Amino acid sequence: MTTIKEQLISKVAAEDNIPNCKITIVGAGSVGMACAICILMKELVDELALVDAEADKLRGETLDLLHGSIFLTTSKIVGGKDYSISKNSKLVIVTAGARQKEGESRLDLVQRNVAIMKSIIPNIIQHSPDCKIIIVTNPVDILTYVAWKISGLPVNCVFGSGCNLDSARFRYFIGEKLGIHPTSCHGWIVGEHGDSSVPLWSGVNVAGFPLKCLNPEIGSDSDKEQWKTVHKQVINRAHME
Ligand SMILES: NC(=O)c1ccc[n+]([C@@H]2O[C@H](COP(=O)([O-])OP(=O)(O)OC[C@H]3O[C@@H](n4cnc5c(N)ncnc54)[C@H](O)[C@@H]3O)[C@@H](O)[C@H]2O)c1
Repeated sequence: MTTIKEQLISKVAAEDNIPNCKITIVGAGSVGMACAICILMKELVDELALVDAEADKLRGETLDLLHGSIFLTTSKIVGGKDYSISKNSKLVIVTAGARQKEGESRLDLVQRNVAIMKSIIPNIIQHSPDCKIIIVTNPVDILTYVAWKISGLPVNCVFGSGCNLDSARFRYFIGEKLGIHPTSCHGWIVGEHGDSSVPLWSGVNVAGFPLKCLNPEIGSDSDKEQWKTVHKQVINRAHME
């Protein structure tokens, strides 16, 4: 009997199973799934793979994405515990790891998450030896260095998310204080992600106009408007990650 599928589709060439642009996310928790949704909505890949240590949770998350396929253009979404599903990734985003517990600093997480990196990175490299890696797991700056060392990849192939989130929050809180949309508020936070990060007040501007010209004390202790509390808000939010 000829099936409907056989009647509908006849192969004219051999299938090419190597994806053009594949991203793997390791860690399908809150951050990993936020990354997955952004990647899919921005139509960045033809294949997305999710890897996590918790099989049941991962299955649920993967099915949720697959069942939303009518809203997406990505043709292949896969999930699994085995790293073979990450094969041929151009980029691997690592968000797997333990979160900070109440009263625990980001640095306290180091030992727990270094052990997790040691289990993850060799598996990534085995299946995608030419990939780029972005580390998000905290403490992100330390773990990015650890991951780079374990990976054996060139130094320009392993990135950390660094202070991107800090800078985004900084711009949001500046916008909130001024009643201006954050896309018009510009500024950077540099250094280590979190507690010891450094806001660059000299560069803070709205639509190109530097706020330091309006308030030369901005961000300092003698600033009557106490703009430094904006940076404190950024640090306090990071404590909840
Ligand atoms: N760099 C940043 O700006 C930033 C921002 C937010 C969160 N984070 C960090 O990202 C990490 C994840 O945060 P979250 O809120 O998504 O946590 P989460 O607990 O929701 O998710 C973590 C996931 O990692 C998985 N996991 C744990 N060990 C694993 C292993 N060995 N292999 C594969 N998967 C494993 C867990 O099963 C879980 O699904 C944390 O370390 C957090 O501190 C960083």
